[in-house]
Amino acid sequence: MQVVREAGGRLAAPAVRIAVPTPRPRAGGPPPAPGVAARIEALSLYYGDKQALKSVTMTIPRHRVTAFIGPSGCGKTTLLRCLNRMNDLVEDVRIEGRIVLGDLEIQGNGIDVTDLRKRVGMVFQKSTPFPKSIFDNVAYGPRVLGTRDRATLEGLVEKSLHSAALWHEVKDRLHESALRLSGGQQQRLCIARALAVEPEVLLMDEPCSALDPIATAKVEELIDELKTRFTIVIVTHNMQQAARVSDHTGFLLLGELIEYDETAKLFTTPSDRRTEDYITGRFG
Ligand SMILES: Nc1ncnc2c1ncn2[C@@H]1O[C@H](COP(=O)(O)OP(=O)(O)O)[C@@H](O)[C@H]1O
Ligand SMILES: [Mg+2]
Repeated sequence: MQVVREAGGRLAAPAVRIAVPTPRPRAGGPPPAPGVAARIEALSLYYGDKQALKSVTMTIPRHRVTAFIGPSGCGKTTLLRCLNRMNDLVEDVRIEGRIVLGDLEIQGNGIDVTDLRKRVGMVFQKSTPFPKSIFDNVAYGPRVLGTRDRATLEGLVEKSLHSAALWHEVKDRLHESALRLSGGQQQRLCIARALAVEPEVLLMDEPCSALDPIATAKVEELIDELKTRFTIVIVTHNMQQAARVSDHTGFLLLGELIEYDETAKLFTTPSDRRTEDYITGRFG
């Protein structure tokens, strides 16, 4: 990538050919002040003897998109999974530090993990529809949480499929197997399934890595719509994608949060040399 330099080696904006869109004004004036969805304080994580996160401290703003970038193995997925305690399922994990979600101390003993996962939904790299109908996939979470009333479930399924920009494609085949959908549709179905329990935060781990460019564009467009109602945290190894969809970006290297800033700032005038090297393609 071509880099423009000022005297002294400082990067001049724009540092790299990554288009950072200017925020579009929304109807009804500017969005409300974002507030805080979660705070991560001095979070360290060890898999056995191996330290995968090194005292990460950051604030995740509410109703914004936060991206984690960095080379493979730097701890992006690990950090994301801490936000809904998915790492509890891994043997021999030790975690230090705090994560506070609203009023809930996530690392606390005795928290209800089912309740936490209702508040913090997750979409994975590879879409994971259940071998059930489209309807039953989306109704799954509400049913687990005790919703039985058919009309309520139908309402939730329709609303969630609308939110995931999938309703018009599937409304006449809700009782067909989800496995018959295309890859891009399956990923949006997984997003609908996560949204059906109305989480506060939606975690997405490389949600487009298995999708073609058109399906990727649809999911990116969707992310932009969803952030008016949800806080989104996305892991991506695709810097262009981070630049397109996120408001804030965190750059991780070997488990350390090297830099965390507004996306436009991080991609044009990074403060740390290692960030600059990474976004200009000099390593990773
Ligand atoms: N379940 C696990 N057990 C042991 N080590 C793991 C496990 N999951 C991830 N790791 C290690 O932790 C580090 C960070 O991994 P990960 O969070 O998956 O990185 P990324 O998502 O940035 O590629 C890597 O060195 C990886 O090998
Ligand atoms: Mg990963």
